[in-house]
Amino acid sequence: MEKLDRKHIVFKKDQLYLHKHNLHELVAKKKTPFYAYSEKVLEENYKRFKKSISQNKQNGLICFALKSNNNIDVLKKLASMGAGADIVSGGELKQALKAGIKANKIVFSGVGKTKNEIILGLKENILSFNVESIQELELINSLAKKMNTKAKIAFRLNPKVIAKTHKHISTGFKTHKFGILEKDILSSLDNSSLWSNTKLIGLSVHIGSQLTCLKATEEAIKNMCQCANKIPFKLKFLDVGGGLGVNYAKNSKAPSVESYVSKINSIIKKNYGAVKVIYEPGRCISASCGFFITKVIRTKVSEDCRFTIVDGGMNDFVRPSLYDAFHEIFASVNSSLTFPTDIVGPICETADCFGTARELPELVENDFIVIADTGAYGHTMSSHYNMRSKPKEFFLKK
Ligand code: LLP
Repeated sequence: MEKLDRKHIVFKKDQLYLHKHNLHELVAKKKTPFYAYSEKVLEENYKRFKKSISQNKQNGLICFALKSNNNIDVLKKLASMGAGADIVSGGELKQALKAGIKANKIVFSGVGKTKNEIILGLKENILSFNVESIQELELINSLAKKMNTKAKIAFRLNPKVIAKTHKHISTGFKTHKFGILEKDILSSLDNSSLWSNTKLIGLSVHIGSQLTCLKATEEAIKNMCQCANKIPFKLKFLDVGGGLGVNYAKNSKAPSVESYVSKINSIIKKNYGAVKVIYEPGRCISASCGFFITKVIRTKVSEDCRFTIVDGGMNDFVRPSLYDAFHEIFASVNSSLTFPTDIVGPICETADCFGTARELPELVENDFIVIADTGAYGHTMSSHYNMRSKPKEFFLKK
């Protein structure tokens, strides 16, 4: 089990630091709200994952899920450490390539790939299209034929498991739009019209995100191995998707990346034998490297309700509003005298709230707060709601 670790964010003489970076100085120079990404934390997270793979003597590839964070500096850093990418749009494909991620390390997931996106993937000769319907396979085959090329594909299996997580991000059951059932995968193999310009090289599963119990994951990977064993030739890889949860709160209990990788390794070795394993982590690499920083506009008291109104809103960071997600909040003021307060933004919805009844010191205009673990699904989900501009992002060097 993983323990929440806040060693990177500390007060030194009443100044809040993100390792060597003084956040008061940063806030004085930059327009708030903004995201700050720590190169140091990002590197630690990636290297730890990679080390877990090598400790298991596994032929593994980390394809970072760009949907969690597509910042160019973050991606360049990951590319420099050898990462591949899991992408879900033409935009993400272009961004991954721009950051220096090699096309032969890119897998393309998603139920709604368009013609133009597929053409782009074919031109770049990406590692694999993770195909989510037989109709999609037909389209890939016909486009590849026109382009006189061969597409490498993996089927995304719908393993019919229910992952315990928020219902919006559980994706592995047959009522979910994702993946293809085993029987449909197997029967497609006999339909030669699908395979003139496509080659099946792998299988994938992805059953959900922020998974803190690995039972359903284990079952899904076993189901994938079972399906792989029914395919009459050896596959080049099995792709286990993403989904490993992180600890957002002190009392939460996400599994460690070491136990996750070693569990997956033993299930695959036992049930399919030696094969290349692709991982598509997003959150467990990027969440803890990101900090959303927003300044206090004013405070307000309504009888026993205290509000701290900040200049960041749900358009900038939507996870608390959309998933009731908990994120730790740190104040720029170092005091042990605290009061419960709701941290709210300027947007005209009651959902525009980053945390309720948080124990924080008295804050005044121009003090700021830091919302932790916002490097995954933070900026990538921001919008222009209420005609607000999107927050900027800053990459803080080691
Ligand atoms: N692979 C596929 C095919 C996916 O759909 C996802 C996430 C990942 C990998 C990466 O999963 P991760 O390791 O980050 O859990 N916006 C939501 C999360 C949506 C996840 C969508 N798919 C949130 O803020 O919690």
